[in-house]
Amino acid sequence: MKTILISGGGGYLGTYLTQVLLKNYKVIVYDEFYFKWLFKNKKKILFNKRLKFIKKDILSVSLDDFEGVDIICDLNGIPNDPSSELNKRHTWNVNYKGRKKFAEIAKSCGIKRYIFNSTCAVYGYNKKVVNEKSKTNPLSTYAKANLKAEKEIYKMRNKNFKVNILRNSTLFGFSQNLRLDLVINIFVNSYVLKKKISVNGDGNQWRPFISLTDVGKIYKTLIKNDNFPSFITNLVAFNSTIRDLACTVIKHFGGSLNQIEFIKNNKDNRNYRTRSNNLKKYFKNLKFSNFNYELNQLIKGIKKYKIKSNISTIRMKFYKKKFLN
Ligand SMILES: NC(=O)c1ccc[n+]([C@@H]2O[C@H](COP(=O)([O-])OP(=O)(O)OC[C@H]3O[C@@H](n4cnc5c(N)ncnc54)[C@H](O)[C@@H]3O)[C@@H](O)[C@H]2O)c1
Repeated sequence: MKTILISGGGGYLGTYLTQVLLKNYKVIVYDEFYFKWLFKNKKKILFNKRLKFIKKDILSVSLDDFEGVDIICDLNGIPNDPSSELNKRHTWNVNYKGRKKFAEIAKSCGIKRYIFNSTCAVYGYNKKVVNEKSKTNPLSTYAKANLKAEKEIYKMRNKNFKVNILRNSTLFGFSQNLRLDLVINIFVNSYVLKKKISVNGDGNQWRPFISLTDVGKIYKTLIKNDNFPSFITNLVAFNSTIRDLACTVIKHFGGSLNQIEFIKNNKDNRNYRTRSNNLKKYFKNLKFSNFNYELNQLIKGIKKYKIKSNISTIRMKFYKKKFLN
């Protein structure tokens, strides 16, 4: 049975991915556990006897952390544009230097595959639909630090150390360690609580999306098949304007369009669409999860776990407290 180490595995995506991978593998979660659900609820998790935690800062990694590990999934760091600007030095230290050092040590330890979770934010603002061959245009410190880490880590690849760079779209879907600062999750939570949805600006801005379920399937396929080569790919299921998304969510609840409020002077300048040639090439059998199913899981989970908008679910709130106090 392979052993998978998930760096940053205590977060939104990591909490979900850990549970997916535990069905077939031993999992080590390496994380400072800023967001506690996984750390506190180990006993509730299926196959938890195969689960180990290393509670440590990414910058303190050492060779012995990787003992017995076959594959590393790196989801670590400051996870969005606004939080990355609060303390730029920290963002560079963790998202670039820390993740690069993690990969260097991994390679020196004989780890076979390094899966680096990156972001479509590396393309920045773009009028054209971008794919893996498009020019990158990172605008935020987050995007710049991640792109630099990507480049350095991808250079380390060889036949014994495969590197896969996964440039994620904006994620959505239920995780016990939910984020309520991601647009689809925000819309669902807002409708559940207030029966209305607020859209920044006119809502005509485009964004790419993918669900946690689909990202989980991609990781599973990649980890199972030792023959996958190194590659860089965008992870995108669909592109939508924020306005259309709000309408779809409202319709799902059986609500009416006048429950959408447009905050005109709160303009959102992020506007881009992505597609992927490599996703089709390498994951031929991938069937994207049904959107209504994902919304239902979110609604059920938010109600069941009584998840609220607070320091554990809004990354900007957490990092503001961490850096500005
Ligand atoms: N969520 C999205 O929509 C999205 C989109 C594109 C890319 N990504 C990328 O996916 C990855 C996971 O995203 P997420 O939404 O799960 O973020 P998250 O904030 O929920 O998870 C990040 C994890 O990293 C840990 N961490 C942060 N700094 C650390 C440090 N110095 N040492 C040790 N652990 C530390 C945190 O405790 C947290 O558990 C991130 O790399 C993010 O940039 C996410």
